[in-house]
Amino acid sequence: MKISVIGTGYVGLVTGTCLAETGNDVVCVDIDELKVKRMQEGEVPIYEPHLDVLFERNINAGRLTFTTSLAEGLEHGEIVFLALPTPEDEDGSADLKYVLGVADEIGKLITDYRVIVDKSTVPVGTSDKVREAIAKNAKCDFDVVSNPEFLREGFAVDDFLKPERIVVGSSSPRATELMEKLYKPFVRSGNPVIIMDERSAELTKYAANSFLATKITFMNEIANFCELVGADVDKVRIGMGTDSRIGKRFLFPGIGYGGSCFPKDVKALHKSGKDSGYDFQILESVIDVNQKQKTALIPKIRKYFGDDLKGKKIGLWGLAFKPETDDIREAPALYIIEELLAAGAEVTAFDPEAMENVKRKLGDAIAFAPGMYGAVEDMDALVICTEWSVFRNPNFSMVKDLLKAPVVFDGRNLYDVEEMKSRGFHYESIGRG
Ligand code: UDX
Repeated sequence: MKISVIGTGYVGLVTGTCLAETGNDVVCVDIDELKVKRMQEGEVPIYEPHLDVLFERNINAGRLTFTTSLAEGLEHGEIVFLALPTPEDEDGSADLKYVLGVADEIGKLITDYRVIVDKSTVPVGTSDKVREAIAKNAKCDFDVVSNPEFLREGFAVDDFLKPERIVVGSSSPRATELMEKLYKPFVRSGNPVIIMDERSAELTKYAANSFLATKITFMNEIANFCELVGADVDKVRIGMGTDSRIGKRFLFPGIGYGGSCFPKDVKALHKSGKDSGYDFQILESVIDVNQKQKTALIPKIRKYFGDDLKGKKIGLWGLAFKPETDDIREAPALYIIEELLAAGAEVTAFDPEAMENVKRKLGDAIAFAPGMYGAVEDMDALVICTEWSVFRNPNFSMVKDLLKAPVVFDGRNLYDVEEMKSRGFHYESIGRG
């Protein structure tokens, strides 16, 4: 099938590449000329495992091309995905200026039937707005459908190629048929393409992400309470999670959720509720608790060293908001660094992928170590913010020897508490005594 993808951010790029991988002829459109030029030369502009291989293969096969011309994109694709940014407005709602701006142009440019697919995470009712914006100028038939993505950073290629489910909001049989044909190769295992109305599809995305954020936040509160009453959250987690109604996943406590989706989506759903006269109290608490949780290690560090951290050298492992990504948006590490610096500490950090992004944001406010052990050498303590696999089983005796004193604050519960004690560490984590 002939497909176009407007916007080559994270979602657009993964969508375009994976659709090309299944034999479609894909044109990706972006207004950023430099980025388009680089992609034409085969450079993947984001870090995402396995994307580079698929990217190169499909460019070489001529199934994946790039242009800055929206007209060209609309001429090419019978199905046109909108994967445009929906940044958070000052009041927490999703800003639709990019989506509606392109929708305006689409109406002027299409000359033949097109299915316009909202792939961006957009508030309930956006598909109606997009339809209206296109209809103002359109001289031919078109349909607008909602098709939210459920891609996890670090696993996006796998999530796209082997989805648990695909949600399509469509009230047009013609568009539904095309979408089902497009997605057929992805659901051969029997996983469903769930067809519903556009508004329900739009809300499904917000509801799923807000539920997962709530699940994590609930567990973070249980962890905080465990510390007060001397319970072990790891045991509670396993005890709870084996109930199939609860499930084992997304129950891991830590220093809060971050990234480009959960924080933005929870806030946007809360704001949408407000706009419609509904007070999502549970989401308000999730937002507040998560914000506090990001710096949950700070009181522990202060209790150990005292409030004044002047002259203290703190090593930090992990800057990305989670492993397998270089994304630092809403990363807990940034909030921890801010507090550590404000208290007078010096910070030296290591992350396998995210150091460049942090360097760009913080300049030389902190130092960066070329390897993980460099962020330990001569430090008063080690603080762990992201659970990268390389941190899971370090050379403990080397860590102990390199640190000035064997002190570890772990925001991701990577190690066994008793083992750390027997190795001679002062070890503090989340919700485990
Ligand atoms: C999420 C959704 O999973 C995905 O379906 C959606 O489309 C986009 O948002 P992503 O933000 O890439 O994906 O990361 P995810 O792996 O879901 O983790 C989100 C955050 O929750 C991370 O900060 C992670 O550290 C945190 N988390 C996750 C926990 O703190 N505990 C857990 O048990 C799971």
